[in-house]
Amino acid sequence: VPTVVITGANRGIGLAFAKAFRDRGYSVIGTSREPQEADELAALGVRVEEVDVTDDASVAHFADRLAGVAVDRLINNAGVLRRDRIDQLDPVAILRQFDVNALGPLRVSQALMPNLRLSSSPGVVAITSRMGSIADNSSGAFYGYRMSKAALNAAMKSLAIDLAPIPVMLLHPGYVRTRLTGDLGDLTADEAVARMMPLIEGLSLADSGKFYHRDGHTLAW
Ligand SMILES: NC(=O)c1ccc[n+]([C@@H]2O[C@H](COP(=O)([O-])OP(=O)(O)OC[C@H]3O[C@@H](n4cnc5c(N)ncnc54)[C@H](OP(=O)(O)O)[C@@H]3O)[C@@H](O)[C@H]2O)c1
Repeated sequence: VPTVVITGANRGIGLAFAKAFRDRGYSVIGTSREPQEADELAALGVRVEEVDVTDDASVAHFADRLAGVAVDRLINNAGVLRRDRIDQLDPVAILRQFDVNALGPLRVSQALMPNLRLSSSPGVVAITSRMGSIADNSSGAFYGYRMSKAALNAAMKSLAIDLAPIPVMLLHPGYVRTRLTGDLGDLTADEAVARMMPLIEGLSLADSGKFYHRDGHTLAW
């Protein structure tokens, strides 16, 4: 049975991933900052682990608890969005978004490298955003979010080279109705995840270091 690790799995897209992978027969390890409150995740019958992706010790302890477990897919999903504008710059909030969105996936991926290497066909996915595309930016604002996702893209591109032949893919889920978007969007988390599952399950070296839309086309950096 393949094993998947999903960060930020207690709600939104991460919870939908946990459900979808469980339904596909995977052994699912879903992380939450507050496992005691992750009722919906626990109700899926999956393994729930505490991880704060901004906390080095938390990530290290998680890796310790996973020692010897082969991880076939790592889904770096945890993320935050603040609606910052140029007339109300909040450097602390920008740095926070960097820490969660860009450094978080790098910390977790690095910590789980031994687990990925135990798998016969491992792969790393980072849930990024088209808002991190510099070429695609036509509406401005969202400084911290855009900067953090562009930085995530840069980090995962390097990781794709460093982890080869383990593939590392960047995936934009679309505009999805979750708490992050104030429940606005074009589709539900379950719908977005259903579209992303084939890309994630079929992940190969040919996809490594690429920035994909959930519908399978590549996005401009
Ligand atoms: N929704 C969209 O339209 C959209 C579009 C493009 C990309 N994305 C990306 O998709 C991913 C999931 O977003 P979502 O829409 O599902 O948002 P969400 O419903 O707000 O869920 C975010 C998840 O990230 C977790 N998280 C936040 N900070 C964390 C930290 N320091 N350590 C560990 N976990 C942390 C949250 O945990 P808590 O419950 O503890 O806060 C929650 O589980 C994010 O990376 C987001 O940027 C979303």
